[in-house]
Formats: sequence, structure tokens, C-alpha cells
Amino acid sequence: MSNAVSYKDLGLVNSRALFHNAVDGGYAIPAYNFNNLEQLQAIVVACAETDSPVIIQVSKGARDYANETMLRYMAMGAVQMAKELGKDLPIVLHLDHGDSFELCQSCIDSGFSSVMIDGSHLPYEENVALTRRVVEYAHQRDVAVEGELGVLAGIEDDVVAEQSTYTKPEEVEDFVKKTGVDSLAISIGTSHGAYKFKLAPGESVPPLRFDILDEIEKRIPGFPIVLHGASSVVPAYVALINQYGCKMDGAVGVPEDQLRQAAKSAVCKINIDSDGRLAVTAKVREFLAHNPAEFDPRKYLGAARSELIALIKHKNQAVLGSAGKA
Ligand code: G3H
Ligand code: 13P
Ligand code: ZN
Repeated sequence: MSNAVSYKDLGLVNSRALFHNAVDGGYAIPAYNFNNLEQLQAIVVACAETDSPVIIQVSKGARDYANETMLRYMAMGAVQMAKELGKDLPIVLHLDHGDSFELCQSCIDSGFSSVMIDGSHLPYEENVALTRRVVEYAHQRDVAVEGELGVLAGIEDDVVAEQSTYTKPEEVEDFVKKTGVDSLAISIGTSHGAYKFKLAPGESVPPLRFDILDEIEKRIPGFPIVLHGASSVVPAYVALINQYGCKMDGAVGVPEDQLRQAAKSAVCKINIDSDGRLAVTAKVREFLAHNPAEFDPRKYLGAARSELIALIKHKNQAVLGSAGKA
């Protein structure tokens, strides 16, 4: 007998209708990673206060950290908490960078409404076959699937890529057709983590490859595109972190105006993890430096949570354009 749980019984939704509305409306749905209670509370409060649909996403590492069953109940709690705040928010529970069929299957069976199968590092035909297998399993359960073509530089769980390999526009149509994916993550110059660009002194951040994005849109018009590695590496947080004892030299992210431009295109999901990590670390370091006798985690994590709420509200309102779209 199967112990599978459907996301529908948890009050979650899949991402299909959200993506459709986002592509039509020229905005992007925020996808925020979470690993713990305070991050999830901040996401719920900020999205309720800005009336934004949201994707709460869990990496393989986050799942190992937090426990899959715990995550299911946290996601249910997020839905209920939003209701108590007066908002019936569309909330998607998504697996970020799934690396095997079995992991995707396990998440689907435990109540995820969306999974990413990241076969981007595999040879093309293997990526197609693996993605297709996940799609077949997921679609029988009305779960949405994100695939990826092209490789981002940086760290994705255990996979480290030194260099970006941009998505080849000539592959996207075939990939989408053969796999049946609901959305496609692409590589146009973003990367994971806090060190996205190596800049010489005085050099500014190179623009994203909007020419590649345009080519992709031409080949699969209106198809939902996903942008990973989209943190801005907020300089104020890096400065605070450095002020209070850390050494983050050369941390730099994607400028907000470029993300805004992407959100107006077929990019309908924007992934943000590092900015949340920086906000938490900056505020915890600052709080403890100013309150050396404090040892109640609620105090310093509470300060971090307040900052995260402000950050997420700002992203929804000024960068992604998802505020007011719930
Ligand atoms: O894309 C990677 C995400 O930022 C997740 O990072 O694997 O350290 O949880 P993580
Ligand atoms: P950042 O490291 O830029 O926040 O990217 C997160 C991400 O793409 C998660 O999948
Ligand atoms: Zn990613």
C-alpha cells in the first residue's frame, strides 16, 4: 500500500496557472529557498503583506537538513499561516535541483507540488531521457516539472561548474517537446552563490545575455522560463557582514534592473537563495556584536527574520513585480 500524500490535500498548488499569469502579466513568481522555521515565516509574512504568489523551494541539501516529513508539515503550516494573515496565497512547494528520478519521486510522494530535475550536466540525450521519466511520473499526479538546459557556473549542491555553458537556443524546442516539461531553466550569465562575477577594479557587472533569452523566446514563444542564480548579493549586507568579522571579498550579484528586465519577459520564476542567507548572516552578526551577553536564539533569529521580511517585500514589489498578483 502506498503512503503517498498529494499536495492538493495540503492546500498547495502546482505552478502551471501561476506561470501562465506571470508570462502574460510581465512579472515573475519569486522562488525563495528555505531550510528552517524563520526563513519560512519570513516568506509567508512578506508574501501575505505584498499579496504575492510564491514558490517555496527546498534543495537536496535543505531536505537532508530539515527532513522531508518535517518539510511537508512546514509547507502545510505556511498555507494555514497565510490564511490566518487573511490571505489565501497560492503556495507551491518545489524541489530545487533534483538530481535523480528517485529523489523527485520521493518528494512528489511526500506532497511536493513541483519538482526540478536538473540533468543539465548530462549529455543532451541523457538529460532528455531522465527529464522525460520524471515528467511521466509527475504528470500522473498533476505535479509540475522544471528541466534545465545549459550549465550555470558555481555550486549546485554537490555539482561544481567552473564555467557557465550558455543554453543553446537551437536545443530548447526539441527538449521541451520530447520531455513535456512545464518550465525550463536556462543559463544566460547568472550563477549560484555570492561570487557571481570576477571583476577587475573599476569594472562593472557584465549584462546578462538577453540576446540568448530573445532567441529562446522566439523558438518557444510564451513558454515559462526560469532564472536561477538571481540573487543581487545586496552590497549593504556584504558590508555589514564584513564590518562584523567576516571576509567576503569580491562578492557580487545580478543588478536589480537586469532582473526587472528579465521578469518582464518569458522569465516567470526567479530563484533567490543567497540574498536571504546574506540578510540572515548580516543581522545575526550585527545583533550579537551589539548584544554580546544575549544567548536566546529567538532574539538574534528574530532580528534576522525581520530583515528577511523587508528584503522579500522589496523583491516582490520592486524587482519581480509579483506584489498584488496573488
Ligand atoms: O541552487 C542552489 C541553492 O542555492 C541551494 O543551495 O544546496 O546549499 O541548499 P544548497
Ligand atoms: P542564488 O545563489 O543567486 O540565490 O541562486 C539560487 C538558486 O538558483 C536556487 O536554485
Ligand atoms: Zn539554482
